[in-house]
Amino acid sequence: MKNVTAVVLAAGLGTRMKSETPKVLHKIGSKSILERVIFNLNSAGISDIIVVVGHRAGEVEAAFKGKVSFVRQKELLGSGDALKTACSRLKKNIENILVTCGDSPLITSETYKGLIERHIKEKASCTLLTATMSEPSFYGRIIRDKKGVVQAIVEEKDLSQKEKKINEINVGSYCFKGPDIDQFISEIKINEKKKEFYLTDIVDILVKNKKRIVSERCAEEEALGINSRKDLAISNKIVNKKSIEQFMDSGVTIVSPDTTFIDETAKIGADTIIFPSTIIEEDVVIGKKCKIGPFARLRSGTRIDDEAEIGNFVELCRTRVGSKTKVKHHTYLGDAVVGESVNIGAGTITANYDGKKKNQTVIGNDAFIGVGAVLIAPVKIGAGAKVGAGSVVTKNKNVPAGGIVVGVPARPFRSEGR
Ligand code: UD1
Ligand code: MG
Repeated sequence: MKNVTAVVLAAGLGTRMKSETPKVLHKIGSKSILERVIFNLNSAGISDIIVVVGHRAGEVEAAFKGKVSFVRQKELLGSGDALKTACSRLKKNIENILVTCGDSPLITSETYKGLIERHIKEKASCTLLTATMSEPSFYGRIIRDKKGVVQAIVEEKDLSQKEKKINEINVGSYCFKGPDIDQFISEIKINEKKKEFYLTDIVDILVKNKKRIVSERCAEEEALGINSRKDLAISNKIVNKKSIEQFMDSGVTIVSPDTTFIDETAKIGADTIIFPSTIIEEDVVIGKKCKIGPFARLRSGTRIDDEAEIGNFVELCRTRVGSKTKVKHHTYLGDAVVGESVNIGAGTITANYDGKKKNQTVIGNDAFIGVGAVLIAPVKIGAGAKVGAGSVVTKNKNVPAGGIVVGVPARPFRSEGR
C-alpha cells in the first residue's frame, strides 16, 4: 500500500508485565509480540513502518534492525506524545497514517486491510477499530451519540458509572488523514489524572472540528492488548488454537487439541496423527501418515518422513528421521540423521554435545539400536547394523554396514565369545 505509513507505538514501560525484558519482545509461540504486529502489517501490504521506541529502546531496535525504521520517544509521556514524536519523522504529505499498538499482536492482516479500505472509501478523518468485549474494564470505551456517531474515547479511569457499562472498546488501531494529524496532534492536552497525553483524546478534538469519524469492528479475540502475563497466556492459547485448527483443516488428526502445542510455522502431512500432550516447535516438518506422541517434543529443525512413529517421552532436536522409522519410547536424538525403517530402542540417547560443540550421529537404513544404547557423537552406525542393548558406542568408533556391536564401550560381537 503506497499511500499508507504505519506507526507502531512500542515505547511504553509495560509496567504490568513486571519484567526486565521489554514487553513487546516477550514471545507468543516462536514470535515476539512486536514481530507479530510487524508481520501482520507486512501481510496487509504495508512496508513503510515506523516503530516508536523508548523503554529499553536499544534492545527493541536491535531485534528489528533493517526491517522497520525507529524513532525514540525521549520521555514516556503517553500514546499521544508517542504519535507526536513519530510525526517529526514522517515524510511530508502522507495521505494516511495507520497507528497501532505494539502490544496488540492478534489483529489480523485482513482487519488492517479492512480498516484502511473503509477509511479511504468513507473519506474519513479518522477510522477507529473497535470491538465488543465481554470484560472491557482495561480498555478505552467508545462514546457514541444517540444517532450512533462516535463522539469520543474515554479511558477507564475517566468513565462515569453509566459509561462503565459500555462494552464497545477502543482496540488501539486507528487510520488517520495525515494532514489532520499534522494540524491537530498538538491540541491534545495532558490528562491530569495520569499525567500523560492520551492519543485517544484526538477523537474528541476531531469531532469538535467537525471532522468525519467512522468505525470498523473486529473480533473480540483480535482486540486483546498484552499488558500482563495473564494476557500473554491467553494470547498463547488463542494463537495455538488457530494453528491447531489449521492443521486439522489440512487433514491432520489431533486427538487432544487442548493439550497439544503446534507452532504455526510447522508443516505436517495429511493423515498424520498427533497424540495428546505433544509439543511441536517452530520449523518442524512432518510427513504423511506419521504417528507422533503422546508426550513427544519435536524441536526446531526436525524433519520426519512419511509413516514414521515417534512415541512417548521422545525429544528430537535438529534431527532427521527417515520414513517408517520407529522411535517409540524415552529417547533423545539431537543432531542425528536416521535412515528409513530403523528401530530405535527405548531409552536410546545420542550424546551430541561434547561440552564445546554439537556433533552429528548418522544411522543408516534398517539399523537396529537396542534399548538403552548411548551413541556418543560424532559417530556413524551403518545400514542394517545392530547395536546391543545397553551398549555405549564411543565417538568415531563407526559401526560398518551390517556390523553388530555390544558392550561398554561397544565392540564387535562374535557369537563364539570374545
Ligand atoms: C491503550 C488505549 C486504550 C485502548 C488500549 C488497547 C490510550 C490512552 N489508551 O491503553 O484506549 O483500549 O490501548 O490495547 O492510548 N506507548 C508509547 N509511549 C508512551 C506510552 C505508551 O509508545 O509514552 C505505547 C505502548 O508501548 C503501547 C501503546 O502505546 O504499545 C498503548 O499503551 P498502553 O500503556 O499499553 O495503553 P493501554 O492502557 O493498553
Ligand atoms: Mg496496552
